[in-house]
Amino acid sequence: MSEQEEVSYSEAIQKANDSISRFPLIPIRGIPLMNYIANNFDSIQAFRPDPSDIFIATYPKAGTTWTQEIVDLLLHNGDAEFCKRAPTPVRSPFLEIFSPPPIPSGLELLSKMDPPRIIKTHLPFQLVPTGFWESKCKTIYVARNAKDNVVSYFHFDKMNLTQPEPGPWDGYVNKFIRGELSWGSWYDHVKGYWAEREKRNILYLFFEDIKENPRREIERIMRYLDLSVSDEVIGQIVELTSFKSMKANPMTNYSCVPASVFDYSVSSFMRKGEVGDWKNHFTPEQSKMFEEDYEKQMKDVNIPFRSLI
Ligand code: PPS
Repeated sequence: MSEQEEVSYSEAIQKANDSISRFPLIPIRGIPLMNYIANNFDSIQAFRPDPSDIFIATYPKAGTTWTQEIVDLLLHNGDAEFCKRAPTPVRSPFLEIFSPPPIPSGLELLSKMDPPRIIKTHLPFQLVPTGFWESKCKTIYVARNAKDNVVSYFHFDKMNLTQPEPGPWDGYVNKFIRGELSWGSWYDHVKGYWAEREKRNILYLFFEDIKENPRREIERIMRYLDLSVSDEVIGQIVELTSFKSMKANPMTNYSCVPASVFDYSVSSFMRKGEVGDWKNHFTPEQSKMFEEDYEKQMKDVNIPFRSLI
């Protein structure tokens, strides 16, 4: 990606300025999706990946960008300069994203890249184009504990002026519980990929594990991708993908998105990057209500989530 192309991504967003608004959600097979995504769903479904492509699936705000950066660095032997060739959404396109023109869609960006491509999605398992499973693409799923996930999503929805208005925190938690936010229910999302992880050879990771021991989890990703990187390079990748480094790196911190879309006066994209920030948001009553509902929604599975480390 040339410097000119990088600039053009930000410029394309600038040019679409007049068409930017908090887009309404339209359900696709019961999953609320931004209207631009819903209206282009057939072309998203028709996407055929290359078997060498690497697929990163997450519920929004679960550690997508972090994992995209780890994978790009692993694929390129920790080459920090090469991994600054373009901002995250250009280097590692977002499969289903469609926005007002001239902002390039995920499919458009993908069509201009040679495999292996690192492809991001937030689609729940049942909406993933079947080509991914037919091609047996390596798939990494990253899950984050529900309480921190909803906190992060709340701040994001406040600052991302293309997402529906989040409203007050209390009501937002209830929308999360009811699966009414973009990309639907967190509970169904984490359970959907969990149920398929063995059959589809999905590497199922947890945000909290990466935070607790990044080296261990980066090495797991390396082995899953059949890569071999020296201990020293792994150490560099740990450093390059720390919250501090990624927050300071203009190619990972989403500063490519102009303030007319991401209102940085409300929040930064790299906000806190912690486990347990939910404690600063949930009242004891909200926490009790949330946990009671969680028990019900998660009673049929035993996914080892940790909301504190
Ligand atoms: S998105 O918009 O769905 O792609 O967002 P996503 O990248 O999944 O999630 C953003 C949250 O991940 C945090 N983050 C990190 N935490 C720790 N270390 C690193 N390197 C890192 N990179 C991103 C980011 O800060 C968001 O979480 P919160 O809790 O809001 O800070």
